[in-house]
Amino acid sequence: MKIVATTTQSRSEPEQLFRQFLDDSGFDYWPRKGRGIKTIQRESQADVILVWQENGPVIYMGDDRLFFHPSMAKVRLSAYRNKGQTDPLIEAAGITPGDSVLDCTLGLGADSIVMAYFCQGPVLALETSSAIAYTVKWGMQLYNSVMPWLDEAIKRVNVMNRDYLSYLLSLPDRCYDVVYFDPMFRKPLFKSKTLSPVRMLGDHEPLSPEAVREACRVAKKRVLIKERAGSPEFQRLGCCRTAGSVHNQVHFGIIDIER
Ligand SMILES: C[S@@+](CC[C@H](N)C(=O)[O-])C[C@H]1O[C@@H](n2cnc3c(N)ncnc32)[C@H](O)[C@@H]1O
Repeated sequence: MKIVATTTQSRSEPEQLFRQFLDDSGFDYWPRKGRGIKTIQRESQADVILVWQENGPVIYMGDDRLFFHPSMAKVRLSAYRNKGQTDPLIEAAGITPGDSVLDCTLGLGADSIVMAYFCQGPVLALETSSAIAYTVKWGMQLYNSVMPWLDEAIKRVNVMNRDYLSYLLSLPDRCYDVVYFDPMFRKPLFKSKTLSPVRMLGDHEPLSPEAVREACRVAKKRVLIKERAGSPEFQRLGCCRTAGSVHNQVHFGIIDIER
């Protein structure tokens, strides 16, 4: 997938932070010169145009946009903080303060942020799509709200543009308390509009039993897999039990690590 990065129409040259972004991501720079996105797309023949804006990168794909926003994480954490509502992911993962967490599937980062809030430490989040990984990574770095508890959780998420299997294979045994996978569902929940740019750019390969085996080697406490309630994936991937309410279409497959 060809990605080119450009400035907004009002800027002529990339500023320092944008240069750092270009170095980090390795994306090609395409001078904006006041032209529209469609013209840049035609000239560069890129599949994806990334525009560097003041509060972070924005990906343009036809009528769709992808940029970092913590909306779902904010809603979930606010529900916990204001109403004491437990978060189903945190309950299923059994995350407690001090746990180390590896999130193998960053996406828009909502689950990573929620886990970072509850483990009160860093979360490493892997993402194989470079467009998603660098957009979310830099969007997270530049994000500032008026809620320090949210900003702190976001800043604890460290993003790496890596494939989870190759990364897991490089890790020693028992080095994370919890390893988490939220792969693209085999049968998507079409209601979830917020994930549609992620659906277009994300990796749809099913989770392999080899990756789950590696995760079990790397995890000390638990491996967790998110899928649709009742999905045959839970059995195929060796989950001993599942968690989730009858009112929720999303459940978690759980593998407890016992040694
Ligand atoms: C459903 S989304 C995850 C959503 C995320 N949990 C959230 O809260 O926003 C799945 C993500 O995993 C990524 N992914 C799929 N296969 C991967 C792999 N082998 N390595 C790393 N990331 C992968 C996809 O590109 C996609 O962005």
